[in-house]
Amino acid sequence: MDFSSEIISWYRQNKRDLPWRKTKDPYIIWLSEIILQQTRVEQGTPYFHRFAERYPTVVDFASATENEILNNWQGLGYYSRGRNMHFTAKFIVANNAGVFPNSYDDLIKLKGIGEYTAAAISSFSANESKAVVDGNVFRLLARYFGISTPINSSKGKIEFSALANSLIDRAEPGLYNQAIMEFGSLQCKPGNPLCGTCPLRLGCVALNNNLVPLLPVKIKAQKSRTRNFNYIVVVKDDSLLINKRGANDIWENMYDFPLLETQDLLSPESLLCDAQFIEKFGNEVTIDAVYGPVKHLLSHQKIYAQFFVIEHFSESFLHYNSWQYVRYSDLEHLAQPKLIFEFLKSFL
Ligand code: ADE
Repeated sequence: MDFSSEIISWYRQNKRDLPWRKTKDPYIIWLSEIILQQTRVEQGTPYFHRFAERYPTVVDFASATENEILNNWQGLGYYSRGRNMHFTAKFIVANNAGVFPNSYDDLIKLKGIGEYTAAAISSFSANESKAVVDGNVFRLLARYFGISTPINSSKGKIEFSALANSLIDRAEPGLYNQAIMEFGSLQCKPGNPLCGTCPLRLGCVALNNNLVPLLPVKIKAQKSRTRNFNYIVVVKDDSLLINKRGANDIWENMYDFPLLETQDLLSPESLLCDAQFIEKFGNEVTIDAVYGPVKHLLSHQKIYAQFFVIEHFSESFLHYNSWQYVRYSDLEHLAQPKLIFEFLKSFL
C-alpha cells in the first residue's frame, strides 16, 4: 500500500469519534477548526458544543455581541480568534446573505482563516483537494521522509505544503486530511511515538536512521517578554471596580481591574508611594489584603500579577472612563482573561 492508502486504512480502524466529523456544514466545521487552533481536542470539545448549541448558524453567531462571544470563549485563550470569528460572521451576513462559503478561494479571503483552515473546511465540507498542513502533518512528513528543513521557516512551509499536496488522495481528500492529522496526533506523537506498531515503519526515514527524536526541526521561537502587573481591587458594597481594556495590548476589550504595570513588582509600601498610584487613588487609602504574585503564561509573554485590595478609596478620584463599578452578580456577563477569572473565583 502507498503512503496515503496506508494512512486512510489506519484511520478507518483507529479514528476517534469526534463531533465535528459528523457534519458537512462549513460553518460548524469552521467553529471546530478555529476552536482547535492552539488547543487540545479534550479542552476544545466542550467549547465546540457550547458554540454549536448557542449559535447553530452563522446568522446566530453574527447576532451576538462581541462581549457575549468573548464571554463564551473565556478560558480558551488567544481571544483574537473569537473576535475575528465575530467579525467574519458579521461580514458573511452582510456580504454573502448569511451563506458560509465552502470553497478554498472564498474561505482564504476571510479574516482569521489561513491556508490550513481554508484547506480543512473546503476539504471536509466540499471534498476539495487541498492538503492540510498542521503541526501533526509537519511532524509526520518530516519523520517519514527525513526532512530537516525547519517547519516554521518560509522555505519549510513551501516544501512541506508541496509534498502534502502531492500525497493527497484525489478521490477522498477530506477523508485523507482527517486521517493524516489523526495519524500524527495519535500514532506519530511528538514524544514517545508508537513506532513499534506503526504501519509506516518500514519506509520511515527517521526511524531507520535513528532521527525520530530530532525531527521535525523548528527554529527557536522568540524570547518571551516578562511583565509585572499590580492590580488594584476596590470593593464597594457588593460591587467591584472594573476596568475595560483598550486596544493595542493583550486582552483587547476584555475586563480586568485598574492596573499599574511596573518594571518590578511593587511591595505594599512602595505601591502606596508610587506616583502613578497616588495620581489614580490618592494618598489616603490603606491596603487590606495582597494576593499573589501569580505567574500567568501567554504565548509570548510571562505575566507576574499581584492583587492589592484597598480600602478608603475616595470617589473623587474615580475619573477614568474605562472604570465602572460592577455588581458581583453581573461579573459573569463580562469577558475576563483567565488570570482575572481565576482570581475572582478565589476572592469572591
Ligand atoms: N485539530 C484540528 N482540527 C482537527 C480535526 N478536524 N480533528 C481532530 N483534531 C483536530
